[in-house]
Amino acid sequence: MTIAIGNDHAGITLKFEIIDYLQSKKISVMNLGTDEDISVDYPDYASKVATQILNKKVDLGILICGTGIGMSIAANKFKGIRAANIYDEQTARLAKEHNFANVITFGARTHTKSQVFRLLDVFLDTKFEERHQQRIDKIKEIEG
Ligand code: RB5
Repeated sequence: MTIAIGNDHAGITLKFEIIDYLQSKKISVMNLGTDEDISVDYPDYASKVATQILNKKVDLGILICGTGIGMSIAANKFKGIRAANIYDEQTARLAKEHNFANVITFGARTHTKSQVFRLLDVFLDTKFEERHQQRIDKIKEIEG
């Protein structure tokens, strides 16, 4: 599995912590976020990660900003992206089981590193439930 990760200035520290964590689990990571402590605009990084997913270069995207909200709004503007701002174990599980999210977003200012690692584990260990495919198909219909 390959994961693309993107972040704005709020998410730099958490981004590197997540990269180390994923690599310790033998997951390869494409770092598309900013590494410099200079204010940037989160939609630019949502765009980079969404493009890699839509071009089938990676299996999943992770986006980090202050809250995870801006990144999820921006990523969801891309046709074919299902971005979920996961913030507890239930939303981490349901974002995969029900929504088959292909991008997950985290808030660097709302969650600790260990909380985020736990949410990542729950999301990665959960399977999509086929009974929800019809709803995913209807989202595709809305996208046109
Ligand atoms: C940047 O200060 C902040 O607005 C951004 O990281 C994010 O939280 C937006 O949703």
